[in-house]
Amino acid sequence: MVDVTVVPCDESLCKEVAALEVMCFGADAWPPEVFHTLCRMYSESAGFRGQIWVALDEQRRTVAGYVALEVTSLGEAELTNLAVAPACRRRGIGRRLVSCVIAACQQAGVELLWLRVRRSNQRAVRFYEACGFVKRGEFRDYYDDPREDALILALEVPEERGEDDPC
Ligand SMILES: CC(C)(COP(=O)(O)OP(=O)(O)OC[C@H]1O[C@@H](n2cnc3c(N)ncnc32)[C@H](O)[C@@H]1OP(=O)(O)O)[C@@H](O)C(=O)NCCC(=O)NCCS
Repeated sequence: MVDVTVVPCDESLCKEVAALEVMCFGADAWPPEVFHTLCRMYSESAGFRGQIWVALDEQRRTVAGYVALEVTSLGEAELTNLAVAPACRRRGIGRRLVSCVIAACQQAGVELLWLRVRRSNQRAVRFYEACGFVKRGEFRDYYDDPREDALILALEVPEERGEDDPC
């Protein structure tokens, strides 16, 4: 059951998002200033270059998860980051955030959505597979600390069906 509201990330949410990032990724976490920079860049860009969305827990109004999308080239985009707070997992929040990303891709004419994930992060791999991503390749020794391969997953963005906006 999904009891979250999904909103675009703005400066006022960046601190909480950065705290969740550290909770979920530890030493691999994006530094807090990255969220500020991306929010500013995406809001100021002329065309659609990307977006961070935040899932707010409706009862406590706290950040339950977030996802980041970056348009990389004509017709393609990368899902660059995604996390759901440990206490909020397996409630469909991750799937809801991916639905927002897919809806934005449809609106922006993006046909192929990519992402990279650590080979050992099988929980995330299972999640992405459940969302329709398939393995397209891998980068050997892509990550440091610990050194590890990245799996490259991709989703062919489905045609827009005119359903309710998930965001
Ligand atoms: C991966 C992650 C975002 C999933 O978020 P979530 O909100 O728990 O996912 P959902 O509840 O929407 O799950 C949707 C489906 O994905 C699959 N799934 C999710 N978590 C899973 C797990 N731990 N093991 C196996 N399958 C899983 C299931 O099929 C699930 O459907 P079900 O609950 O009906 O069985 C979350 O576990 C997370 O934040 N992990 C740490 C950060 C991370 O690794 N991010 C990815 C970096 S590339």
